[in-house]
Amino acid sequence: MSFERSIKSLARMAALLLALFSMSAMAAGDVARGADLADTCKGCHFIPNYKNAFPVYKVPKIGGQNEEYILAALKGYSSGERTHPTMTGQAATLNDQDLLDVAAYLASLGAPRTQDATGPVSDKIATCSACHGERGISPMGMYPNLAGQHHSYLEHALASYRDGTRKNPIMTGFASALSEDDIKAIVAYFSSQKGLFTPAL
Ligand code: HEC
Ligand code: HEC
Repeated sequence: MSFERSIKSLARMAALLLALFSMSAMAAGDVARGADLADTCKGCHFIPNYKNAFPVYKVPKIGGQNEEYILAALKGYSSGERTHPTMTGQAATLNDQDLLDVAAYLASLGAPRTQDATGPVSDKIATCSACHGERGISPMGMYPNLAGQHHSYLEHALASYRDGTRKNPIMTGFASALSEDDIKAIVAYFSSQKGLFTPAL
């Protein structure tokens, strides 16, 4: 079996296993309470193309993002698995119920935008699709949607996995296997799909 194909079947196997592990039902969050708690998030996440000062990249779009993944990301910041000065501070002020409520509120803002036609799907992109969906809309809520995400944020995320500042056993492996050219093509592909959006204030 070729290297490409074995990576691809590995990706599919990992996707399946992870999905099985996460079958436990997610507790329901309170959307109205989450809306109040999310007031402080709006100054960054509800401003189109808002930029983070250092390092410079656009604040990720969270409209249309999966509830389960939003919750995991917030928990990542509060546990220190994921670090960012502002987000660590934001997540630290919220308890477990608050996080559930905020995630429920953000997810209630709408499903990802519908898709137009896509560009050609390379083998590399097909590897990512096992978890992130062919057009970047993940078939499973635990994986982030990538479609329509800011170009500069996707680049930043992949660079962070590669240099170890963002820790995730799965993504560190996949990101490390990419060349600079692969990254350019993959980021251009996913960021140009329709999907995620900046919620209106
Ligand atoms: C000062 C600006 C700012 C504020 C305020 C802020 N965020 Fe963020 N947020 C960011 C930045 C920048 C990132 C990307 C950080 C990184 O690289 O990990 C981020 C990342 C996230 C992510 C992960 C997105 C992904 O695709 O992985 C979630 C979820 C999130 N923020 C939710 C929130 C919530 C909920 C609040 C309010 C409680 C909030 N943010 C407040 C700037 C902000
Ligand atoms: C086996 C499943 C799997 C495969 C295959 C996979 N990913 Fe991921 N990806 C994940 C998971 C899980 C996360 C969330 C990790 C975390 O919490 O940091 C993630 C996160 C990401 C993020 C960060 C998104 C955000 O909003 O911060 C990017 C970018 C990404 N993946 C790109 C890729 C690319 C490009 C490929 C193909 C080369 C790929 N992934 C293949 C499971 C996968």
